[in-house]
Amino acid sequence: MNETILKKNKGKYSIENVPINDITEKFGTPSYVYSKKIILNNYLDFKNQFEGIDHLICFAVKSNPNIAILNLLAKNGAGFDIVSGGELQRVLAAKGDPKKVVFSGVGKSQEDIELAIEHNILTFNVESEAELYRIQNSAKKLNKKANISIRVNPDVDPKTHPYISTGLKDNKFGVDEQKAISMYKIAKTLDAINIKGIDCHIGSQITELKPFEDSIKKLLELIDHLESLNIKIEHIDVGGGIGIQYSKETPPSFYEYSKTVKNIIGNRNLKVIFEPGRVLIGKAGILLTEVEYVKNSSDKNFLIVNAAMNDLMRPALYQAFHEIINISQSNSDKKNYDVVGPVCETGDFLGKDRFMSAEEKNILAILDVGAYGMSMSSNYNSRPKVPEIIVDDNKCHLIKNRESFSDLINSEKLLP
Ligand SMILES: Cc1ncc(COP(=O)(O)O)c(C=O)c1O
Repeated sequence: MNETILKKNKGKYSIENVPINDITEKFGTPSYVYSKKIILNNYLDFKNQFEGIDHLICFAVKSNPNIAILNLLAKNGAGFDIVSGGELQRVLAAKGDPKKVVFSGVGKSQEDIELAIEHNILTFNVESEAELYRIQNSAKKLNKKANISIRVNPDVDPKTHPYISTGLKDNKFGVDEQKAISMYKIAKTLDAINIKGIDCHIGSQITELKPFEDSIKKLLELIDHLESLNIKIEHIDVGGGIGIQYSKETPPSFYEYSKTVKNIIGNRNLKVIFEPGRVLIGKAGILLTEVEYVKNSSDKNFLIVNAAMNDLMRPALYQAFHEIINISQSNSDKKNYDVVGPVCETGDFLGKDRFMSAEEKNILAILDVGAYGMSMSSNYNSRPKVPEIIVDDNKCHLIKNRESFSDLINSEKLLP
């Protein structure tokens, strides 16, 4: 889990056994590059912690939805956590098994619900009473039964950025415990609904174990109560959310996390479902970008690079920190730089106050962007989306082309 993607040998950087220079020469910049080995090792390390207990790892597609990555995980037994019909289509295109899919999200459309029912997904993580009825009606219409779990909002503070905190009572996600009980009672009466499990996801980039502990305990109490009402729960979905080290954070190891989960769940007869995203893929990806201009003024120095907030939104959106390394040779003096993109927003920065040496045409690597990097990118400022490449030992595979200008306007039309 702590393997670093960039290797340095005699002043030259590589990923697995491919020099970065080869990658930039072949694919240009900006570009997202991932290590297959790190993705797979992370997934297998996580999975191995739960050997001996009935479990399923459902990779959170939103963290990185490229079908090559989904396919890699599917081939190794992973299920998927999806939040839209589009993500389900991606899982199918990646040859993932829909019977290992859990469907979360507060605003599931009728169309998406029907698509999921048609593909017999493992469960809907239901987030409101209205959604429960919509699933019942959709299943009836299709003459099928739908599996459901209720997403409980355990009102636990995950101590993370407010935008990625999802398990507090004023967040829009899930329902409180009392509401969950009444929804399970209703679900029991609905003839097109199978009650399968219980679910929570309290937030992302969580670096302490206590919030996980508190939320799982609350779910177990609820399971006991439901059992007393003759409502049987087969699986507990404990969500995703383990954080990674971007800077000085000290997130729990897989071992510590699994020990906590296993201790709390004990020998209950429950399948445990996990929905990790960031912790599996975050450290497996970098964004390569080239310095366009070095702009010095009396107050500030800027490295203006060819990647921007549309390619990597996390710094602008969450003031997130990503380490930035100059992988080229530079003999210029080290200075304090803001690393910024060409987008016309003051919020368009990739790093602030980075003490480094850099010159025009140098290649910078922005680290730990495998999760919520490419997946949150946009075409803002009419910037085509960048390519994605996977390194596998000494080979590079282009898994997404760089968009062209015609890709950008293909779906637009002039007025008659
Ligand atoms: C419902 C749900 N499950 C899983 C995840 C994955 O979280 P993470 O990438 O932090 O593991 C998210 C992301 O916030 C989510 O909303």
